Parts: sequence; C-alpha cells; structure tokens
Amino acid sequence: MRSILQCMDCGRQYPVDQVAYTCEACGGLLDVLHDMEMLKQTVSRATFDDRLGALQPPFNSGVWRYKELVNPDIDIDQIVSKPEGNTNLYRTPRLAEWVGLETFYLKHEGENPTGSFKDRGMTGGVTQAQLLGMDRVACASTGNTSASLAAYAAYAGLEGIVFFENKEIALGKLAQAIAYGATCIQVSADFDRNLELVRTISEELGIYVLNSVNPFRLEGQKTIIIEMIQQLGWQVPDWIVVPGGNLGNSSAFGKGLHELYELGLIDRMPRLAIIQAQGANPLYRAYKTGFEQYEAIHAETIASAIKIGNPVNYRKAVRTIQWTDGVVEEVSDQEIMDAKAMVDAQGIGCEPASACSVAGARKLVDMGIIQPHETVVGILTGHVLKDPDATINYHRNSLSNIEANYPNILHQAEPSIEEISRILAGEPVPTGG
Ligand SMILES: Cc1ncc(COP(=O)(O)O)c(C=O)c1O
Ligand SMILES: [Zn+2]
Repeated sequence: MRSILQCMDCGRQYPVDQVAYTCEACGGLLDVLHDMEMLKQTVSRATFDDRLGALQPPFNSGVWRYKELVNPDIDIDQIVSKPEGNTNLYRTPRLAEWVGLETFYLKHEGENPTGSFKDRGMTGGVTQAQLLGMDRVACASTGNTSASLAAYAAYAGLEGIVFFENKEIALGKLAQAIAYGATCIQVSADFDRNLELVRTISEELGIYVLNSVNPFRLEGQKTIIIEMIQQLGWQVPDWIVVPGGNLGNSSAFGKGLHELYELGLIDRMPRLAIIQAQGANPLYRAYKTGFEQYEAIHAETIASAIKIGNPVNYRKAVRTIQWTDGVVEEVSDQEIMDAKAMVDAQGIGCEPASACSVAGARKLVDMGIIQPHETVVGILTGHVLKDPDATINYHRNSLSNIEANYPNILHQAEPSIEEISRILAGEPVPTGG
C-alpha cells in the first residue's frame, strides 16, 4: 500500500503525488504516513544490519539504507543520492568531562556531502521533486539548505533557486551555493520573511519548495537518529541533544523515534533536548509557558544557521517534546562559541549552531536535568569549515560581546630560529612579525 500525506491537525489526507506542504482545509503541517502494519511484517533490525557496508546504491546511503521507513514505494532508479549519511558517531571522553558526563557521543552530520545534515533531507526532497516532474526547486536559507539544494539540484539536472538574507550568511555556505550553480538571490529581509517570499513565489510560478516545511525533507532527516541508534547496536541513549532553528530535525526525530518504537525496532523512547540560541528562542519561550503561548520574535545570534524567529515546524516540535518527554533550553552566544572551541579542540570541529548541542548538554547537566551517568548523544549539524569568520574572530578575540575563553593564538614570527624557539617554549614574542 502506498504512503499518504496527512494533516497533523485535522487528519485530512492527500496523495503523495500531489504538490502539498500544508493542509488546504486548516493550514496544518503534513506528515508522510507509511503503512505501519505492512512495515511490521517486512522490516527488522537485521534488514538494516545486512545492508551495512553496501557498496552499491541505494543501500550505500545512510538515508536509503532505511528506504522502507523513508519512501517505501519508490523505484530505486529514481533516487537522487550522492550518497549521504554514514556519518561518524564519536565517543568524546575529554569533552564528556567538560560537559559533566561519563558518556558523551557526538553524531557528526557535518560529514555529509555538502557539510551539513541538510543533505539527508535534500535527497528525499529532490527525489520527490523529480517524481512530481518539477524542474525547478527553491528554498529560503540561512546557508546550509542553499548549499545542499544547489548541489542536489545540479546533480539531478534541475534548476536550483535560493533566497538568503543579504548579510550574515557564512562564507563557506554562500560559496557553495554559487559554485554549484544555483540561481542565488540575496534579499534584504531576514530568513523568516524570505521563507514567506519563497513559498508565495513558488506557488505562483510552479516551483517546488524544499524548505523543511516539505514533509519529504523530514523523512530523510529522521535517518540521523535511526543510523545513530543502529551504530549503538540498537541501544537507545538516554538523551539526544539537538540545536533548534526551523525545527525540522526536532520534528523529524520525534516522528522517527515514534515509528521505531511502534515497529519494535527500539524498546524505549530516549528523551530529546532541543537547544536554541538565546537570541533566537521562540520555542524556548513557548516551552516556558507550557506551550500555552507562542510568539514569533526577531532573531539575532552569532549562530547564523539558527537565526530564525518564526520556526515553520513549531507544532511538530511541540509534538516531539510531548512524545519524548523532552525539554527545551537556551544558550548564550558566549556559551555557543566556547562549546564550539571545545568541540574543535577535540579534532572534531563544527560550525557555531552545532555547538548548541554541547553547550546545551553542559547546561542541562549543570541544572541537574541530565544526570552525569546518563548516556547522551549530541548532534553536530554542520562542518567546521562552513563559517571560518566566526572561528577566526573568536580566536583573535575580536567578536563583539564574546570573550575567547579557549583561544588558540595565531603566532607571528620572523624567519628566525631563536624567535620560533621562544614561541615553542611558550615565551612571549612581540606580535606583528
Ligand atoms: C548547522 C545548522 N544547525 C542547525 C540548524 C537548524 O536546524 P532545524 O531547522 O532543523 O532546527 C540549521 C538550519 O539551517 C543548520 O544549518
Ligand atoms: Zn488540516
């Protein structure tokens, strides 16, 4: 039986071959629902374990290894995959100590083909665009979605169109979108306004929207946690900690975990902690009211990837918190950049937004919400090379209102053995060469 789209609010259903992102009747967000009874008969842990190490498509992808849970009906020749996923799960003993935990893992989604988790959603979204016969795909982006869309659209031979704010996009991301040949439009508006624009223009011009309001994106993104749990031998961690911006991952994780539990692939639900930047915290504010009140805000944070004031997946993220007995926390830009420096110094590295997972875990341990003996997995969402300005300016101590508490000083030296030896001995050397 084929999967269907279903409104999470009123339950109205739509066929998967209809271009739809939200419910025509009530405006609610749509879920891709699969035939769970059939899946119970057809998939097991062994189904997915047998595919580990596959060399050929589609099972060489860490998304399509779980094809039955992502898009069971699709013909494998139609899949657009680079391939993505298969990202490392690092055990980090020194960082664990800093966070206050005995066991802390980092799942590094920056190791995807374009350097962020977005590729897991984009393979699902671009595959769907092709199935629907769309030849143009578009998104609004804080950077990573545009890089990913540009790459996948080019790979599939589609036209990619990306909108971003005309300031504060990290250089690595902008460079990617341009290099991969997307039509790049810098708009003098923030992400939230750009998303409204892209949705309106796409509707008028018949362009397929690949922001995370697209439910096929979330089907790909839920494989982050499926793959991570498989890497742990199907043992569920006590906590998963993830940054929250437009709340696509948070939504996808809730749905994925719910499905894994229903299918008997896991025997309990982990708790999810969603971490927002203090200056971009509408979910956190709503959480503090018991989700009685929600208000969009104007967002500001150094973690430009999550500079989002009106997350489109808010309702699904609330559902995730309810399903997982989850929590929402906020962290300051100072805490984000210090946590990033610590992740980077492990030789792992991440972009600023990703460090929310580590800063947030540390704060939750400090608050007594996460216990030191609990097993915690933090999700790193983007690669260290995405935002070189943030990294270098931190270590130069030149970021406004942020102190470099863990700086790695860039030394300058004359070509002199004596001078270089003094540097290596840790002695002061006049700067400026
Ligand atoms: C590096 C990074 N982390 C986190 C996020 C936020 O993810 P989500 O919108 O799924 O909450 C983004 C989104 O752009 C991102 O690029
Ligand atoms: Zn509805």
